[in-house]
Amino acid sequence: MKNRLNGYMLLFCVTVSVSVAKAQYTLKKDFIEKNLNEAIKQIDYLGSNTPGEKLPRTYEAGKSISSGTGWWTSGFYPGTLLYLYEYSGNEELLDRAKQKLKLLEKEKNNTTTHDLGFMLYCSFGNILRLTGDSSAYKDVLLTGANSLISRFNPVTKTIRSWEGWTYPVIIDNMMNLEFLTQASKISGEKKYQDIAITHANTTMKNHYRNDMSCYHVVDYNPQTGDIVAKKTAQGAFDESAWARGQAWGLYGYTMMYRETKRKEYLQFAEKIATYILNHPNMPDDGVPFWDFNAPDLPASSPYASQYKQYRDASAAAIIASALLELSTYVKNTKAKEYVNAAEKMLVSLSSDSYKAPIGSNGGFILMHSVGSIPHKSEIDVPLTYADYYYVEALLRYRNLLRN
Ligand code: GLY
Repeated sequence: MKNRLNGYMLLFCVTVSVSVAKAQYTLKKDFIEKNLNEAIKQIDYLGSNTPGEKLPRTYEAGKSISSGTGWWTSGFYPGTLLYLYEYSGNEELLDRAKQKLKLLEKEKNNTTTHDLGFMLYCSFGNILRLTGDSSAYKDVLLTGANSLISRFNPVTKTIRSWEGWTYPVIIDNMMNLEFLTQASKISGEKKYQDIAITHANTTMKNHYRNDMSCYHVVDYNPQTGDIVAKKTAQGAFDESAWARGQAWGLYGYTMMYRETKRKEYLQFAEKIATYILNHPNMPDDGVPFWDFNAPDLPASSPYASQYKQYRDASAAAIIASALLELSTYVKNTKAKEYVNAAEKMLVSLSSDSYKAPIGSNGGFILMHSVGSIPHKSEIDVPLTYADYYYVEALLRYRNLLRN
């Protein structure tokens, strides 16, 4: 009898927790799948606009702009094809991704950039995960991971992001750490993960302000590890909160919690989420301005008049994807808050305001992202990484509904 009672109680607890979890999700499977199916149609069109030896980057003034493999965004198109293959099982998408991976492979020897996680992990990491073919992809990933850790300096306790400056480290670099934690899993060698943890810890200490917004760039003295300057490159001003930077940090610490199970990363990600979601300048549709400080720019700012109002759909897509993952690591009230916020972003991004009609926008799914306003580059345009994280967020949502 006692056992039967325990069994009923267990069943009750499971039923209650499942119904609480289910109630959190308000978007329907049909909505998610419609958007994924449309993404497949749109990426067909994108492929037809992209030269065989190039990778799509953006579409500006009616012209498709693509890049070579050395540009930081080169891994996103094959990565998006692979996500859509994962969703649909359509082998043609896998074949198209493989064609681009052949071009991309040489970047495994590139030691001049920190962006190898974006370039090689979003692409080769996904194909290894989906095909399990380590004889084809393990060497590329480990050679690439060795190239990435060649940029680690034990004095600054960081991986160097760019050339120039003194020894610049940008918040975006948090995104390249998954490549390293996975390299440790693939190789059985701890050194990659150790560097990822060291870099994440240094970034926690030096990039974040008391209000949990972050600087874009921290420049170090590589001989002493001292901080030379805290600056921005793509934000509105040094002390501002560049939207995509906040998104990279949220995603990065959520991912680092998944990879290490270190509670301090989870707590950090939650605090970043609190900053983003409660920001007074967060628009009602959940798609941030390109910089959280943009609407308040004084007339003296070079970006005040013309650039104040631009949104960054890429930041929304990254934040939505990160929040969906973060929601799975926290208790119900918080989980609900994160899911609701991600749902709002996904609904906005999937609306006519941000999602382009099939056969337009050069084949990119989303409109209205910003690359870099200070560099007058890629302003209010589609961007390949906005599409990648949008599709990733849709897939994550679909998996949450299924599980
Ligand atoms: N990693 C460069 C950017 O976010 O624009």
